[in-house]
Amino acid sequence: MIIGVPKEIKTKENRVGLLPVGVSELKKNGHTVYVENNAGVGSGFNNDAYVKAGAEILPTARDVYSKADMIIKVKEPIKPEYDLIKSNQVVFTYFHFAADRQLTDAMIKNNCIAIAYETVQRSDRKLPLLDPMSEVAGRMAVHAGAKYLEKTFGGRGLLLSGVPGTEPATVVVIGGGVVGTNAAKIAAGFGARVIMMDIDLYRLRYLDDIMPKNVTTMMSNSYNIAEVIKTADLVIGAVLIPGAKAPHLISKDQLKTMKPGAVIVDVAVDQGGCVETTKPTTHEDPIYVVDNVVHYCVANMPGAVPFTSTVALTNATLPYAVQLANKGWEKAVKENKELLLGLNVINGKVVYKGVADAFGLPYVPVESIVK
Ligand SMILES: NC(=O)c1ccc[n+]([C@@H]2O[C@H](COP(=O)([O-])OP(=O)(O)OC[C@H]3O[C@@H](n4cnc5c(N)ncnc54)[C@H](O)[C@@H]3O)[C@@H](O)[C@H]2O)c1
Repeated sequence: MIIGVPKEIKTKENRVGLLPVGVSELKKNGHTVYVENNAGVGSGFNNDAYVKAGAEILPTARDVYSKADMIIKVKEPIKPEYDLIKSNQVVFTYFHFAADRQLTDAMIKNNCIAIAYETVQRSDRKLPLLDPMSEVAGRMAVHAGAKYLEKTFGGRGLLLSGVPGTEPATVVVIGGGVVGTNAAKIAAGFGARVIMMDIDLYRLRYLDDIMPKNVTTMMSNSYNIAEVIKTADLVIGAVLIPGAKAPHLISKDQLKTMKPGAVIVDVAVDQGGCVETTKPTTHEDPIYVVDNVVHYCVANMPGAVPFTSTVALTNATLPYAVQLANKGWEKAVKENKELLLGLNVINGKVVYKGVADAFGLPYVPVESIVK
């Protein structure tokens, strides 16, 4: 198969869909890989590294799209990319269709096979191609929180770890999933006093078993949240209700009960946020202050650390990409249910119910196409 790796063109996106090691792996399996000029530079991999691994560099995205049977990228295609995608071309990337009608219509029109990272799902319901970005965002949430607790940014002027003879910060993590667990682990490593909250008692039991001594668990309910945020220096929002908007667990009125200069990092901002006053921000302008509480609500946190994010993402995507390349998409999805769930649009037909429902489009069950 011929595989194409275009350079990401979405603003400030420095990740890339395939690393040189991925090129070697695909070459070993007998495939040809074309990479757009400088596609990997933002993640620390220059053209030479790709050439050494066996790729051929092409000057433009148009060249890559016109030659490839399968495109591997990171972000959903944006307008200038819509018409580069060919009929029957497999596009393996994040799509987030339900949030973008224009993108959905464009992928229906260009007759491609759209396999979305975010809906590839294991039998235990885990989302293996979303989890790496949650790991990055969870760990980064503590870095961001520590930084914005500094006085210059409007924070309390508190060092997360404290020093001998002083109190460490109190960090409250709401949501004990992938983001929350990674955040708690890093905050605990800094020496902060960490409280993890979740609505799932089994999850809390598990966290209680594996977390270090400076992490305690607490049931997430409105009373406990109201009490605990009064003592918090840093609150990390990490809840997810799959397929739904995040619930507002902290109201605007409750901000007044928090310490002046406390920081909220609402990682769940991409699902609407779990704080009433959350609104999406960017890496260029990441924070704002409401009622003396600093809010950090960057919706694409992993974008700030493209080297780590690209490696983490491609570690997870490569095995699936190799299956798609070796078997062709139809055989690959027939033999791997996880990949089957990644199919969103096939030759103009919407085969993912959530996407069809989001826009009132006709839904065609994937089983009626892949037999
Ligand atoms: N901003 C970013 O750059 C970025 C990056 C990655 C992920 N995210 C977002 O972070 C959020 C968390 O993702 P995740 O991968 O950790 O999800 P996850 O499914 O692994 O964990 C979510 C946890 O929230 C818990 N939860 C649900 N309702 C709750 C409540 N009322 N109180 C406390 N806990 C509750 C669930 O029980 C679960 O343990 C998602 O919205 C995700 O989209 C954002």
